[in-house]
Amino acid sequence: MTVPLELSTRAHQTEEPPISYFIQQAVENPNLISLAAGLVDPDSTPIDEVKEALESMLRDPQAAKDALQYGTTQGYGPLREKILRHVLALDQLSPNDVAFSADDVVITTGSQQLLYLIGEILLNPGDIVITEAPSYFVYHGILGSLGIRTLTVPMDEQGMKTDELESLLTRLEQSGELARVKLIYTVDYFQNPTGLTLSMPRRQELLALVQRFSKSQRILILEDAAYRELRFDGVDVPSLKSLDRGNEWVILGLTFSKPLAPGLKTGYGILPRELMAPLLRIKGNHDFGSNNFTQHLIDRMLRGDLYQGHVERLRMSYRAKRNTLVNALAMEFPRALSPIRWTTPEGGMYVWLRFPPEIETGPGSRFMEAALREGVLYVPGAFCYAKGGPVPNHEARLCYGDASHDELREAVRRLGKAAREVLPMEKITIRRFGGCG
Ligand SMILES: Cc1ncc(COP(=O)(O)O)c(C=O)c1O
Repeated sequence: MTVPLELSTRAHQTEEPPISYFIQQAVENPNLISLAAGLVDPDSTPIDEVKEALESMLRDPQAAKDALQYGTTQGYGPLREKILRHVLALDQLSPNDVAFSADDVVITTGSQQLLYLIGEILLNPGDIVITEAPSYFVYHGILGSLGIRTLTVPMDEQGMKTDELESLLTRLEQSGELARVKLIYTVDYFQNPTGLTLSMPRRQELLALVQRFSKSQRILILEDAAYRELRFDGVDVPSLKSLDRGNEWVILGLTFSKPLAPGLKTGYGILPRELMAPLLRIKGNHDFGSNNFTQHLIDRMLRGDLYQGHVERLRMSYRAKRNTLVNALAMEFPRALSPIRWTTPEGGMYVWLRFPPEIETGPGSRFMEAALREGVLYVPGAFCYAKGGPVPNHEARLCYGDASHDELREAVRRLGKAAREVLPMEKITIRRFGGCG
């Protein structure tokens, strides 16, 4: 008889990530066009740029030895300096404008590790984290695993609705639960999953709200700006971090995965000073430093214009793909005839599609079954809502990062066919939906 194996509470409360579902679908349906996974544009992979940086690094014996040695837990100093300058340049600031320095930068194994570490150093089971609804579903997984109560605030075309956030914080204060609120998480540029960006007035309101409601403890903002550098239209907005000149209220998370290459799996954070030591203690237990070789490589790419040149080309590529996708949607679901609405992002990789409530999009729904039969996969909108709030079931996230232009057009044709199988278009009356253009 086998002796039972006892798993930890953490293992029990960690659910299977939704990504497993998409991988399974892709394996079972080889003809599938997947707009589900958040993969980046394969045609823009920076092979030449990485090769040039790599060759120059390996040609220099000392540089090669340093790169192949262990690094520090906080990350390669020269890269942290460059990251600081890079982040300040994005906000057109100089080091004298802010109270943070390269000492407040930590390099992590993707920004995902930063999100996890922040959870580990700040959150106890039963604490409250507030997120946008919908939001980055992998982050919900972290919160579930840590036993956190996730509450949500709806969005419109300006991002998180700060008036709703204020009402939520007021209610929590009245019920005596404000002391459990530790973090407000926002993906504030071209959000995964909606493609929406937090407007400047909302940024100011968000910062003012955390300051006002930080009574017995500080409520921090976790600004996940993973897609910030992928703007291809419109006017840039300053980061929340740049509004936090004293480095007290905002943890900024960024990554090289989206603007450079996810295979390098290197992200970074800029933290309020008190958080660095506890974070490094815990990161020390995780790995005592992220991949040192990759950090040295990226450092070399940031020395010249290898990095910047690549990001410019990538933006052009995503603009063209965004156009192909939204044009195909407009042809398939003409606005005057169809109630189906979608966002038109000014950057990033995601379009959010909203069907009428009759078209449910979740696994097992008639629409999803029809879409799979037609050979197209999307992320069901319900996956992107935390369980602590309403979970609409008639939306979808479409990623245009990985698919070719032909595949994007074909995927939309298949979505249209699947939608008509579920609900004949002529039976649908025209309705308006907030937040989707
Ligand atoms: C909003 C957001 N944050 C963080 C990440 C994590 O990316 P990485 O760990 O590769 O930096 C992703 C990846 O898709 C993301 O979409």
